[in-house]
Amino acid sequence: MSFAALWESLLPLGRDAGSGGYRRFSWTPADAECRRWFLQAAAERNLRAITDRNGNLWAWWDVPRADPGAGPAGAVVAGSHLDSVPDGGAYDGPLGVVTAFAAIDLLRERGKAPARPLAVAAFCEEEGARFGVACLGSRLLAGAIEPARARALTDSGGITFAEAMTAAGQDPDALGPDQALVGGIGAYVELHIEQGRGLGDLDAAIGVAERIWPHGRWRLTFTGRADHAGTTRLGDRRDPMLAAAATILAARGAAARHGALTTVGKLTVDPGAVNAISSSVTAWLDARAPDEARLHAVVDDVLTQARTAAVAHGVDLGSAQESITPAVDFDAALRDRMVTALAATGIAAPILPTGAGHDAGVLAARVPAGMLFVRNPTGVSHSPAEHAEAGDCATGVTALAAVLADLACR
Ligand code: GLV
Ligand code: MN
Ligand code: MN
Repeated sequence: MSFAALWESLLPLGRDAGSGGYRRFSWTPADAECRRWFLQAAAERNLRAITDRNGNLWAWWDVPRADPGAGPAGAVVAGSHLDSVPDGGAYDGPLGVVTAFAAIDLLRERGKAPARPLAVAAFCEEEGARFGVACLGSRLLAGAIEPARARALTDSGGITFAEAMTAAGQDPDALGPDQALVGGIGAYVELHIEQGRGLGDLDAAIGVAERIWPHGRWRLTFTGRADHAGTTRLGDRRDPMLAAAATILAARGAAARHGALTTVGKLTVDPGAVNAISSSVTAWLDARAPDEARLHAVVDDVLTQARTAAVAHGVDLGSAQESITPAVDFDAALRDRMVTALAATGIAAPILPTGAGHDAGVLAARVPAGMLFVRNPTGVSHSPAEHAEAGDCATGVTALAAVLADLACR
């Protein structure tokens, strides 16, 4: 099956008819449809599909080993994720999974056979859109988060990750690091749509990742006093919305001062009445910076200003770090090898950093990992407007196949 046919078969799943964006949240019916799609794509290719103990999907092209006791298998894995942010685009995640299947098709068409196991992977809850911690499936696999903490994470309706998993037929007691699986991986390569305009500016279809900026998420809860909008004098109010608003503006200023990026893209307001002062407002701060010193400086700056705003408006402030991902420098040898393999197929791939987080960044702590980027003409991502041209996606398949052939087929 061609890339286009496989891509088209995934496209309708979890798409909101109104916004045109995707709502593929972990362990929901849309997620189950995506999982069935993955299992079918694996079955059509005669790949051995498994769901691991952390809810990650794998489709294995196994290779008989002369001596199974002769150390790690050195498998080569390509993949990404199928979940989305709220009203996300079609490409962020799925492009890496579909191109991985299509690259296997291309290798087979060319009569290539792997000398070491080759797999397609789709990681669970990469966006953290439902349970708050990004790259949860790969973190669990790699031992980068306590299983008990993962089990207890809740969605906006108070459903825990454990409950959601159980309802989807998976055993949450099995969550945790999987040394047998990770130890057998020799390299992980994630192809991803670029989430900026770096490749467009360089007039290149494909890039290779250099590093990921350190980044994290903080939850700020401002608690005031609910009261009547028409009868409470301005001086008598303890309005948490005002402190939240001041903090959101302060975050923008702090980002500019520290050479960082800050975003508040999610707020919850209680009780959420038009004609009442709120009792509490929760704001989520996403912060990213080129290095850890600047990341901590910008977050400290925002938290200081949040405390000042809370005092000024007579409200309480609670803050919690929900997740943090240190800077990741991808394996230089793998990166250079990918650049060389691409050059041999006529693809000149520049090397560029990114501010976006990825499972490859989490897995990089445990296995040599690398990333390929596919040009995004507008740079827009985490939006229904996210787009890559069909020709560039096809080049992505060619590029990934070249890398997999180089890493696994000799
Ligand atoms: C993942 O897409 C992230 O960078 O938040
Ligand atoms: Mn994303
Ligand atoms: Mn992604």
